[in-house]
Amino acid sequence: MKRFLIASLSLAFALFARAADIPVRVTVDTAAPGHAVSPLLHGVFFEDINYGADGGLYAELVQNRSFEHTESLYAWGTVNRGGAGDVTVETAEPLNAKNPHYARLTIRDAGKGFGLANSGFGGIALKQGENYLVSVRARGDLALRAVIEDETGRPLGECALEAPGAAWKKLEGTIKASGPASHARLVLLATAAGRVDLDVVSLFPENTFKQRRHGVRADLAQMLADMRPAFMRFPGGCIVEGKDLPNRYQWKDTIGDIAERPQNWNRWQDAIRGQTAPQYYQTYGLGFFEFFQLCEDLGCAPVPILNCGMACQYQSKQLVPTDQLDPFVQDALDLIEFANGSPTSPWGARRAAMGHPEPFGMKILGVGNEQWGEEYFARYPIFHAAIKAKYPGIQIVTSAGPGVDDGHWKLAWDKFRGGTPADIVDEHYYRPPQWFLENATRYDAQPRNGPRVFAGEFAAHDGRTRRASLRAAVAEAAFMTGLLRNSDIVAMSSYAPLFAKAGAIQWQPDLIWFDNERVYGTASYHVQALFARHRPDTTLPVKIEGAPILLPPLPARDVATYGANPLTPYHPDSLPTVFVAAGRNDRDHEFVVFLVNSYAEPRTATVELRGATQTTAQAHITTLTSANADDANSFEEPRKVAPRLEALAVTAASVTRSLPANSLTVLRIPLIR
Ligand code: AHR
Repeated sequence: MKRFLIASLSLAFALFARAADIPVRVTVDTAAPGHAVSPLLHGVFFEDINYGADGGLYAELVQNRSFEHTESLYAWGTVNRGGAGDVTVETAEPLNAKNPHYARLTIRDAGKGFGLANSGFGGIALKQGENYLVSVRARGDLALRAVIEDETGRPLGECALEAPGAAWKKLEGTIKASGPASHARLVLLATAAGRVDLDVVSLFPENTFKQRRHGVRADLAQMLADMRPAFMRFPGGCIVEGKDLPNRYQWKDTIGDIAERPQNWNRWQDAIRGQTAPQYYQTYGLGFFEFFQLCEDLGCAPVPILNCGMACQYQSKQLVPTDQLDPFVQDALDLIEFANGSPTSPWGARRAAMGHPEPFGMKILGVGNEQWGEEYFARYPIFHAAIKAKYPGIQIVTSAGPGVDDGHWKLAWDKFRGGTPADIVDEHYYRPPQWFLENATRYDAQPRNGPRVFAGEFAAHDGRTRRASLRAAVAEAAFMTGLLRNSDIVAMSSYAPLFAKAGAIQWQPDLIWFDNERVYGTASYHVQALFARHRPDTTLPVKIEGAPILLPPLPARDVATYGANPLTPYHPDSLPTVFVAAGRNDRDHEFVVFLVNSYAEPRTATVELRGATQTTAQAHITTLTSANADDANSFEEPRKVAPRLEALAVTAASVTRSLPANSLTVLRIPLIR
C-alpha cells in the first residue's frame, strides 16, 4: 500500500512538472449564447450563529437589556458610590406578560450615585463625536442619569431621564460621545433615595445602516451591500428548527414593539460539544420586519425559511404530529400576508403599523431548514398544498437534507422525481476543498426539467482548523464556475455561515469576521462578492484546452482529516485544475470570464472571444490570490487575500494572461456593438 501511495504521488509530481508549461487555451463562443443566468444566483445566508444578530449585526449595545437571561443580571453590575441600596430582579406587575422580568433599584442612601451598569457584549465600543440613543422602560419615583463611562470610569457623555411615575413609561435621551472607547459601559445612576423599576434598557448608535433608527450595524451591513447579494435567506439555519420545538424560531414573536417580543435562548448555546455559550440569547430585536427592511435596503430579495413542525433532527428530533400542523401552516400563510398583503388585511396592517404600508414583495419562502427523511416528506407536502392553494405565485424552497449524495439526499430527489412537488431544492455542502474541485461539474448532467437547485449552504472546510484559507476560497470559486454554467437549473446559492464574532464563535469557517469595532471579509467573502458583482445575464459556451487532468497532492491536513488513502472519494485520481465560466453582462455591456487556477503554480491562459469583433477597448482584470494557499485574512492583515484590479487595453478579441497559482481571475471585456 505504501509503495502504491509513493508511486501515485510520484506520478502526480511528474505530471505537475509538465503542467505548468502547458498553456491553457479558453475559447468563449460569443455567437452562441447559452441560457439566461438566474438573477438570484448569488445571495447571502443569515443565521444568528457566532453572535451574528445580538452582539453582531443588530446594533443594540446593551446585552440582556430586558433581564430575561436565566442569569437575570448577566452583563449587569451594581454601581454604588458611597450609598446603600439593593438591586433585585422582580416579576410582579411586569411591563407585559412577554417580558416578565425587570430590575428594581431600592435605594436607602444614594451617596454620590447608586445604580446599575451594563458592560454590553464584551464592552461597548464608541466613536468620538457620534450620538448614542438611550431608552429605558421605567416605573417609580426616581429620576436617573444615563452616563457612558470608558474603561477607566471617565464619563464620555450623559443625559437626564425624568422620574417616570407610578406607571411604566418609556424614557429616552441622546448622548454624544466626547471620546472613543473600546470597552465603555452604560451606567444608570440615581442620586436620591427611593425606588425605580427598569426594563428594556437600550443604547444604540444613531449612525446605523441607512440611518434606520434602532437598525443594524453600518459597517457590517456595508460588507453585505458591497457583495451586492441578490437575496438574503433568514433567519437560518438550525435556529429555525430549534434544539427542541419550544426553542424553534417563531416569526410572530419577532415583530412589533421590541418590549413585547418574548426572548428565546439561542440553540447555538450548546449545539456543539466543547463550545458552549450559556449566555447566548435572541432578543429578536432583529426580527422579521427588520430582515425584510434590510433586504429592501440592500436591494435584494427576501427569502425567509420557516419551521415545518420539526425540531433539530440531530438533537431532540421532536415532531409535531401531522394532524396538528395547522398553526404551523397558518404561520406560513400569515407570513405571506405580513410581507405582501394589503395594509387593510390583518397581517398587512401589522406591517403597516411598523411603518411599511407598501408590500415587501416576497416571492420565495422556505419550508423547513435542512430536514430529511420520511418525517419531512410527511409534513412538507401539507405546507406546499396550502401555500400553493392560496398563493400560487410563491416559490417554495424544499430541503434535500444536510448533505448531498447521501441516503437522505437520494430519498429527497427520488421523491421530487417521483411526483412530490418542489420548486427549488435546498442542498448543503460542507466539504473539504477537494470535494468542491471534484464537484465543479456536478450539475452539468443534471436533468433540466426537474425542480431547480438552491445551493443554500456551502463552504470548503480546509483541514481540521477549518481556516477560511485561500485554498478553500479557490475551491469554492471552482465550484461556482459550475453553478454559473448551470444556472438554468441552479437558481440560487449562498455560502454559510455569514458572520463570526471573534471570541464568540460556534462554527468555522465563516464569511465575515468582526468584533465590536472592526470587520473584515475572508478570502471566501471576496470570491462571493466577485461572482455576485460580475454575474453575467447570459452564459456563453466555453471550451478549455491544455488544462490537463492532474493528480494534485492531497494536502496533509486532508490526509489527517479524511484518511490517508489519496484515492478516497475526496481524492479521485484525476482532476482538472483550471475551471472556467463565461457570460455576457448586458447591464454593463461586457463579456465576463471567470478563470480559476487551483494548481500550485501559475498557468498561462489565452482567452479568445470567438465571434466578437473587438477593437481597442479597456478591459478590467480582477485577481484574487496570495503567496500561499494557506494564507487567510485576519484583523491584523484584513486584506492579505483581497482582489486586485488592473486595467488592460485590448486590441484583439483575445487576451493572454498568467493565472497565478491558487487564484480566481475575473476578466471583463467591454462589448463592442
Ligand atoms: O451554517 C451552520 C449550520 O449548518 C446551519 O445552521 C445548518 O442549517 C447547517 O447544518
